Amino acid sequence: MNETIRSILNRRSIRSYKSSPVEKEKLEVIVKCGQFAPSANNRQPWHFSVINRAMLDKISSANRQVLANSEDENVRQRAKDPTFDSFRGAPAAIIVSGDKAARFAAADCANAVQNMAVAAYSLGLGSCYIASFKIALEREEGFHLLSELGIPQGYVPFYALAIGYSDEELGDRAPRREGTVTWLD
Ligand SMILES: Cc1cc2nc3c(=O)[nH]c(=O)nc-3n(C[C@H](O)[C@H](O)[C@H](O)COP(=O)(O)O)c2cc1C
Repeated sequence: MNETIRSILNRRSIRSYKSSPVEKEKLEVIVKCGQFAPSANNRQPWHFSVINRAMLDKISSANRQVLANSEDENVRQRAKDPTFDSFRGAPAAIIVSGDKAARFAAADCANAVQNMAVAAYSLGLGSCYIASFKIALEREEGFHLLSELGIPQGYVPFYALAIGYSDEELGDRAPRREGTVTWLD
């Protein structure tokens, strides 16, 4: 098995991180791998916001505020959890936003995130694909954060990749479903 296959097969979502920062050089390589993902018509309808813990705290606390105002008691309870963090405690994350006018923007951005997740793994880093970070960013309460993140007009945040050095005791890996392949010989 070569290194590329090994990285693809061994990458796992990491949900607990050491507080040590991620080296900028590594983040640069990871973003570059995102930029070299395939995109429909090579449109590259993406924007990458590389963010540190201070900004992650800002987004997380805006999310917590939205949840705290929910009409649903269960959701309000989630906001009270002192460990609440939309980025799983990672020291860094890359938010990938897509051009609303590009037909395949969601697929293109997803390709970029997966490239970055595998790249992060190959550099000895853990990562977690996250879609649930947008609670405030999709509401008026969080719109001011879009410009702070450098997200261009007409783009919307799609996915985030939390990145950092793993502090997770790895248990069994998420199993893969059977019966998802048809071979036609
Ligand atoms: C589009 C997408 C959104 C995801 N959102 C979240 C999320 O919000 N929080 C989270 O902890 N994991 C999230 N994940 C990670 C999946 O839960 C994870 O990839 C899956 O359980 C398989 O585990 P593995 O990545 O370790 O192979 C997301 C993955 C994808 C592809």
